[in-house]
Amino acid sequence: MDDRAIGVFDSGLGGLTAVAALRELLPDEDVVYFGDTGRVPYGTRSVETIERYAAQDVRFLLGEDIKCIVVACGTVSSVALPGLFHLTEVPVLGVIDAAVEAAAAATRSGRIGVVGTNATIKSGTYRRGLLEKDSALQVVSQPCPLLVPVVEDGRFAPGSRIAELLVEEYVAPLLQQEVDTIILGCTHYPLLAAIFRQVCGEGVTLIDPGYETIRKLSSLLTRLDMKKGSEGRREQYYVSDSEQQFLQLAEMFLGGRVAGRVQRVDIERY
Ligand code: DGL
Repeated sequence: MDDRAIGVFDSGLGGLTAVAALRELLPDEDVVYFGDTGRVPYGTRSVETIERYAAQDVRFLLGEDIKCIVVACGTVSSVALPGLFHLTEVPVLGVIDAAVEAAAAATRSGRIGVVGTNATIKSGTYRRGLLEKDSALQVVSQPCPLLVPVVEDGRFAPGSRIAELLVEEYVAPLLQQEVDTIILGCTHYPLLAAIFRQVCGEGVTLIDPGYETIRKLSSLLTRLDMKKGSEGRREQYYVSDSEQQFLQLAEMFLGGRVAGRVQRVDIERY
């Protein structure tokens, strides 16, 4: 048993979709979340900058009493994960592996689509992971840089014409290649799942990497006998910009209440 909290970080608010999965799948685990709201987005930045930011995020979380770290950011997981392992002894889980496993298991045609930020798609990490899993897979990748701002503007529900048009446009090349599985490779995209579903139809399986990663984490904690021993969850949130702005948007990503204190930190100090 291990009563320390699970550390989770993201470039901003998107990683809260992984916290929503934690609430569902590991309801008694304590959570410490860091959202780098002062420096989001990461997905348009250089590899060097993303690596530096991610290392600071991890060093900050290591100052909290945590037993593992979930990198709930598609961009950091794609671009900067290896550099984070040597910073700590605690397990660090990116979102790529679990999504790759789920997509490879779900596809029947062997044709898989991947959507994500520019940095995620440019890194080729999902493509490599899928081909390592099964070299016969066909992978069609598509950067979708305009989706994050649309989600952050709250326009992610079916009926939002701008979100529908963008998803139609971005997904068209994937559907042309007849993919039957799409990895929603950015933490913001699960909020657009209903629109992806509408555009792609029921025949396409949508993979949420954050959710799959929390599933994997749950098995890992059981295997290592690291689950929390008592009931009741505590949550603590840290951000690098206004607490008020975080509170205004966080519930949309969580699909529920922010159930913990929100504090601002100066992330450049780490
Ligand atoms: N959290 C990022 C991701 O999952 C999206 C936002 C950003 O570009 O920082 O890729």
